Amino acid sequence: MSTTTFTFASRMAHLTGSPLRENAKRAMTAKDTISFAYGYPATEAFPMDTLRKISNKLYTEYDPNVFLQYAPSEGYAVLRRLIKERLANNADIRSDDDVLIVSGSTQGMDLVVKVLCDPGDVVLCEDQTFSGAVKAVQSYGAVPMPVPMDLDAQSVDLDALEHMLSTTPNVKMMYLIPTFQNPLGTSMPLEKRKAVYELARKYDIVIFEDDPYGELLYFGDPIAKMKSFDTDGRVIYSGSFSKVLAPSTRLGFLMANDELMRKLVLAKQVADSHSNYYWQVMLAEFMLHYDFEGHVEYLKRLYRERVKAMMAALDRIPQTMLRYIRPTGGYFIGCRMADDIDPDTFYDIIADRHVAVIPGDVMSVTGHGYERDFRLNFTRPSIEEIDRGIGIIGEALEQARITEPSDIENSCRSGREPVLAGAR
Ligand SMILES: Cc1ncc(COP(=O)(O)O)c(C=O)c1O
Repeated sequence: MSTTTFTFASRMAHLTGSPLRENAKRAMTAKDTISFAYGYPATEAFPMDTLRKISNKLYTEYDPNVFLQYAPSEGYAVLRRLIKERLANNADIRSDDDVLIVSGSTQGMDLVVKVLCDPGDVVLCEDQTFSGAVKAVQSYGAVPMPVPMDLDAQSVDLDALEHMLSTTPNVKMMYLIPTFQNPLGTSMPLEKRKAVYELARKYDIVIFEDDPYGELLYFGDPIAKMKSFDTDGRVIYSGSFSKVLAPSTRLGFLMANDELMRKLVLAKQVADSHSNYYWQVMLAEFMLHYDFEGHVEYLKRLYRERVKAMMAALDRIPQTMLRYIRPTGGYFIGCRMADDIDPDTFYDIIADRHVAVIPGDVMSVTGHGYERDFRLNFTRPSIEEIDRGIGIIGEALEQARITEPSDIENSCRSGREPVLAGAR
């Protein structure tokens, strides 16, 4: 019998498997695992009764050609209009740019990179960021380049950004998560957003504003989206219904300038013709007749309680061992352990005790340099799990403390300045 030789395309060279590190995987195998790892919604977040009612309505009252037939690539016209109205009413985004429905914001990023980037082009990103976006960039042979974060300012370091823009050839785009950043939980202040926009203007590059968490504000006032003050059509705004409805709908959207939109639609036709129409019609019905805004308010109440519980539990851990950034919304809290804690020992202990987190290196653009950082998700675990799991994290930090000064030096393998994460 002959065997087949597969010679893979060079674009696959950068794509590796699951970003979960071994310790998280190990922790996840136990039944009693407390997972702060994945960015999943809570089980209670799914509006089962409403979805059942809308689904029944579709199958009894709707023409099946509306939701079961092949359909336009741009998406369901009613849903696109409703999304534009929501952006105007809820986020003050009153752009003339059009909306394209995509199969999750994951596909939105894929299409944008496909349309804009040649191999070798550079995409600037926050130094710790969503690994799916990094992989999308790499899959087209483009190069994701990390911009250092100024954690105290909850922003990319503007001097470093300008330096990179002025010295790096072929920068095409900046990929940013300005609101409730993944994994850090930071939100870029308005003046920083405006300064980044001005730099993008000066160097004539595009900004991809990824905003899947933006609706989930728990404390304080919302900060204007970059898209809301985009006068040039250089901001591509990306939204998702994974975090406010259900990830399996695979529904997201892009708002982009017309010239760009024409290319995105062509790329979308090649990719999958159109996104799932059953879910597009379900969502439009939800928005029109079943109080979608009330559902989002419910989610905010649910998750506000969880993030408060997590912050209260983290506050019981001395700052000399752990610091974290207090998020005002979203799904995550970014943590950093002190220099006298051995990260490997810490990750081993929590894995043995069945607590899973995402280590910073997994979310680092380069894959290293952030072993002292880790990300906690607070939306999926219950309040009881949050209390118990953070308690275990506190004990593990204590046990992973290094007492010999020479050991501290050895454990500082990242080579980064040992600055602590921003204010608690
Ligand atoms: C910042 C960011 N962008 C995009 C996504 C992907 O979302 P979607 O489910 O819409 O593809 C995620 C998911 O975790 C995310 O954190």
